[in-house]
This record gives sequence, C-alpha cells and structure tokens, in this order.
Amino acid sequence: MNQKTAVILAAGQGTRMKSEKPKVLHEVCGKPMVSHVISQVRGAGIDDIVVVIGHGADRVQDGLKGENVTFAVQKEQLGTGHAVMQAMGAVPENGGVFVLCGDTPLITAESLRAFSEYHENSGCDVTVLTAKVEDPTGYGRIIRNADGGLLRIVEQKDASEEEKAVNEINSGMYVFDAAFLRENIDKLDCNNAQKEYYITDLITMAVEQGRGAAAVTVADVDEIMGVNDRVQLARATKVMRKRIAEKHMRAGVTIIDPDSVYIEDSVEIGPDTEVWPGAELKGNTKIGRGVLLGRDTIIENSIIGDGTDILKSVIKDSEVGSRSHIGPFAYLRPGNKIGDQCKVGDFVEFKNSTFGNGSKAGHLAYVGDADLGEDINIGCGVIFVNYDGKKKYRSKAGDRAFIGSNSNIVAPVELEEDAYIAAGSTVTKNVKSGALFVERAKGLEVEGWVERKGLKREPGEDRK
Ligand code: UD1
Ligand code: CA
Repeated sequence: MNQKTAVILAAGQGTRMKSEKPKVLHEVCGKPMVSHVISQVRGAGIDDIVVVIGHGADRVQDGLKGENVTFAVQKEQLGTGHAVMQAMGAVPENGGVFVLCGDTPLITAESLRAFSEYHENSGCDVTVLTAKVEDPTGYGRIIRNADGGLLRIVEQKDASEEEKAVNEINSGMYVFDAAFLRENIDKLDCNNAQKEYYITDLITMAVEQGRGAAAVTVADVDEIMGVNDRVQLARATKVMRKRIAEKHMRAGVTIIDPDSVYIEDSVEIGPDTEVWPGAELKGNTKIGRGVLLGRDTIIENSIIGDGTDILKSVIKDSEVGSRSHIGPFAYLRPGNKIGDQCKVGDFVEFKNSTFGNGSKAGHLAYVGDADLGEDINIGCGVIFVNYDGKKKYRSKAGDRAFIGSNSNIVAPVELEEDAYIAAGSTVTKNVKSGALFVERAKGLEVEGWVERKGLKREPGEDRK
C-alpha cells in the first residue's frame, strides 16, 4: 500500500469559537490550525491532500493559498461521513486514505507515520486512532469485544449509560483502505440521534464484512486534542509553545523561562542565543548565533545577525547586522537595515532607514526615511524631519557625518561625508563634505536679571 492520500475535514462552522473567522484558520503559534495539520501530514510523507471546506469556504481556500492542496466543497454540513463523500473524487482507486480533522493542530508527523505503519501491518481495512482520557464527554466512544477487538464507535448522543462510561475515545483520525472506502461510503445513512452521516459507521461495516477494523492508542493525548473554543485554543497554544521552545533548546538555544516566551513555528534561532522571559518572536524571523534577546523583546519578520544584543525593544520587518546593540526601549518600525557594530540606544526610533556599519544613535532620536552611511554619530534628541503634513521625504548622510544633539534634519536634505552639524541646528539645505553647519541664534546674557525680577530664592526655601 504505497499511495497515500489525506482528507482533512474542515467544513464545520466552529460555532463555539464565536468568531467571524472560520475555526480552522484560527492560529496556534502564528500558523492556522489546519496548516499545522497539513505540515505534519506532509512530514509523514503524504503529499496528496484534500481539504473539505464548507463554512467560510472562500476564506479557508484563501488562507491556504500556496499550500498545494486540493479542495472539495461540502455545501451543507451533514456530518463527517458526508464530508468524506465530497472528497471521493480526489481519492485514488487504491492505497491508504487518511481522514483527519482540521482542528487538531497538535498531531505530529511521527504519530501519523506510526499510525500508518500500524494500519499496514494490521491487514485491516480501517484503523482508528484512539486515546484514553479522563473525561470522555462529547467524544465518540470506542467499543471493543471481550477479546479487545474493535467493534464499533458510538457517539455521545447515541450512547447508553454503560457506553458513556468508556473512557477510550475516537480521535476522529482514521486510515482506510481506498477500495473499502469507495465500496462503502455511499452506504452510510443518517439514522442516528443527530441525523448526520457518521464516518464512524464505516467501522461497523468493516467488522460486519469481515474486512477487519483496528484501533491504535496514541501515546500522547495532547496530539489528538481538538479545538472547539478559545479555552482549548489557548491550551493547544500552550502545548505548541512548549514544543517549539524545547526544539530550540535541544538545538542549543538558552531559554531562561520557556513558559514565558512566545516563539512562532516559523522562527529560526542560532545556537548560543539567549532568550529572556517575555520575549515574543514572530513571523519570518531569523535570529543568529550568540544573540542576547532581553526581557520583553518583540521581534517580528526580522533578521538579527550574530552576537547582537537586544534589550526590551520592538523590531518589525527590519534587518540588524552582527555585534550591534539595540535598546533598551528602541523601536525599529518596518523597513530598516541596521549594519554591524551599530548602536541604537534607549528611546531611539527608526523607520524605513538604513544605518551603515559602526553608526550610533545612543539615545532619544527619531530616524525616519533616511539613508545613513558608516560610522555616523547621531546625538541625543536628533530628529529626521521627514513629513510636511502631506508628503514624506528622504534624507541622506555620508560616512562619518556627525550630527550634534538636538538637531533637526529637515528632508529632503543631504549631509556629505564628514559633515559636522553643530548641536541645536535645524538643517534645511545640503552640507558639503567636511563642512560645519551651525544654525543658532546669538546668545544674550542679562546681568542681575533674577534679582531685579524678584525671582531670587534663598537656600532651602522650597524645602520648608
Ligand atoms: C467526531 C466523531 C467522534 C470523535 C470526534 C473527535 C463522528 C460521527 N464523530 O465528532 O467520534 O470523537 O469527531 O473530535 O465522526 N466536519 C465537516 N463536515 C461536517 C461535519 C464535520 O467537515 O458535515 C468536520 C469539522 O469541521 C471538524 C471535523 O469534521 O473538523 C469533526 O467534526 P465535529 O463536528 O467536531 O465531530 P463530532 O461529530 O463532534
Ligand atoms: Ca467535535
């Protein structure tokens, strides 16, 4: 049985999520639940994937753009058996057909592989993945014969009191022999408490036809956890966060408090990097080796070079080179390229700017829409004035430019290499290489003024 196809059921509404968004698109660690299932299915070596969509079909299809899956539409949600019927057009004549759910984001490729092997070795036409749980409420119960062989699955709503007491439950994941599935799927009816076509009735058919039905119990119950509401979504996220953190720790990343960090599935982190509590690493982020990510640092869709340290800062859609120092309290808004050995210190904000190697902005500055060369010094309180209320303009500064504290660089303007801006200047025109630009009113000193105005205070007067 070489050919393997997976049918992922994702047509249900997910009413309990109380959401505009289709349930399977709700994210666990930055990735839609159904995409987690798809990646694990692929990881188990199954490439033909059919996703059954219905509620919010367009949105789900859109959310899975680029996933390279086939879609089957189930117009009315008449049950899990009915959902599989809609996918049959994409199911081959022979081989194994996995039926899975789009709302079980914690299933792993390893378990799917083991499940598949078990099925192949059993010689049965259907194998169901089960779990032993403390509270089986709501799930289909696994009914076995006296020898432990699988007999049937009974839904909560159809179960007798005795059956309800069974704590082995149906995960909703199955492998079928394709030929058996083709032969029998249309025989399903909806004579049950919910008036639905139950996929689970195929187990009974396999047993009655002597085709064999097997049940295999999953080792880790978390893997089959279905998400129906936001409480379960948070539970699944917690498990996923732990898994992701452990994967990085095993690969050489130090995570001081794994329970407190949020790292999305897509994030890459080099060895010897240290992640402090409260860090949030999201999207397409790549962190180099030996990086220090301080407490409460947020990094989204960004690349951080080796040996850089980032303290309590926010970085979005930007690139930072190696051995640079960012923060505390720096804010890199989208579109920056910060070089190697740079410093972007406390309360410095960058947006859509480049900062060459060795350049420094130590404190309290705003750099927006600027292309800045290497070894530049930006003093405290410097502002790149990029906006006139209607349009934004860019500024430029060559290598080694020195911009004194509290200066305003009014775009569009260019400071050539080695230009020197005196503290407190407002620069509105280009400055030549090596020139000093100073824009400052002449100071005035009025002697004896404080006394004459009656403003002189005695020592300690304000402390009485
Ligand atoms: C089903 C199983 C139950 C099992 C449980 C595991 C049946 C009859 N029962 O229960 O034994 O313990 O899953 O979670 O199969 N779906 C569709 N179209 C439909 C109905 C459902 O695509 O018409 C999809 C849902 O989006 C969901 C999955 O199938 O992803 C399971 O549906 P759900 O309604 O949660 O299954 P239950 O009937 O609760
Ligand atoms: Ca369910």
